[in-house]
Amino acid sequence: MDAIEVINLVKSFKEKNRLIKAVDNISFSVKKGEIFGLLGPNGAGKTTTLNILNGLVSKDSGEIRILGVDPEQNEQNWEYIKNKINVSTAYYSLSEQLTIKQNLKVYAMLYNVKNVQEKIDKLLKMFELKELENRKVVQLSSGEKTRVALCKGFLNEPEVLFLDECTVGLDPDIAEKTRKIIKEYQQKNGTTIIFTSHYMYEVEELCDRIAFMKNGKIIKIDTAKNFKKLIKKTSIELTIKENYPAFLKILKEKKIDILSTGTNTIIFEVSSSTDQLYKLMNIIFKAGVKISDMHMNKPTLEDIFIQFARRKQKKSKMSEGK
Ligand SMILES: Nc1ncnc2c1ncn2[C@@H]1O[C@H](COP(=O)(O)OP(=O)(O)OP(=O)(O)O)[C@@H](O)[C@H]1O
Ligand SMILES: [Mg+2]
Repeated sequence: MDAIEVINLVKSFKEKNRLIKAVDNISFSVKKGEIFGLLGPNGAGKTTTLNILNGLVSKDSGEIRILGVDPEQNEQNWEYIKNKINVSTAYYSLSEQLTIKQNLKVYAMLYNVKNVQEKIDKLLKMFELKELENRKVVQLSSGEKTRVALCKGFLNEPEVLFLDECTVGLDPDIAEKTRKIIKEYQQKNGTTIIFTSHYMYEVEELCDRIAFMKNGKIIKIDTAKNFKKLIKKTSIELTIKENYPAFLKILKEKKIDILSTGTNTIIFEVSSSTDQLYKLMNIIFKAGVKISDMHMNKPTLEDIFIQFARRKQKKSKMSEGK
């Protein structure tokens, strides 16, 4: 049984005379213990999808199952699910006039958490907030608020955790520690996580698979490694010490795509999947071209994101989620 199943999910919002299709017939499933990334441009429908799964927004149509049950089917199902899931987002509205500890205590009551004091203490230490526990949320920096939201997410030791931009505003040190906490927690408890972020390196580091969403639809689901294979070209940056004109002539003869040129530098593209670069290098060395520096820009998830985000809608419908 998959931990999360989403089948033909649809959600629209009415705005004056306009209908916004926030989630447009998406299907996907997440295995137990998997970290599943939802990527996509602003307004793609990621938060709406997560809000439907965690019961904050009701769907128009489609089916969802969490840990094998449909949370909307009846009250018992929702009662069963609600204590097994949790959500954390940097945009979570905590009660500003309550202290960190008071906020977490309120959530602990909502989630029927046992050993409240012990759990809150442990989480505050984990996210380096212990010294601030009696400070009102209104007096916290944005990164500190984000860390309180993370504590809230782990409070009931959820089996399924929705992390929607949970690292926004964290300094690089805490962000790195947070990713480590998420990974360690997930490995220890076998937690299933849906993770959204606009920071590609953390999506790549954490997620087993990624669904790319755009305009409410899932365009493709795959691993970060396979997503990167979709970029067929690698760009090469060279600084030429001797025989620059000869080098330029060779590139033109070989019909290599030149992206930019400087007085002694050049950026061009070669195929990522063939030995085109190796062959080219042999030719230019034989022609007496001397190179003083070389830099290869391997395709990143960011390149894929930009390519998918800018692609025309017609093309992006090519392959819906697997
Ligand atoms: N309550 C609402 N009322 C009207 N429109 C809404 C509402 N919630 C979301 N939308 C619209 O639905 C679409 C999807 O929004 P959503 O928040 O799911 O996007 P997202 O992928 O999470 O984007 P981001 O990366 O900016 O967080 C957007 O066009 C948004 O404006
Ligand atoms: Mg969002």
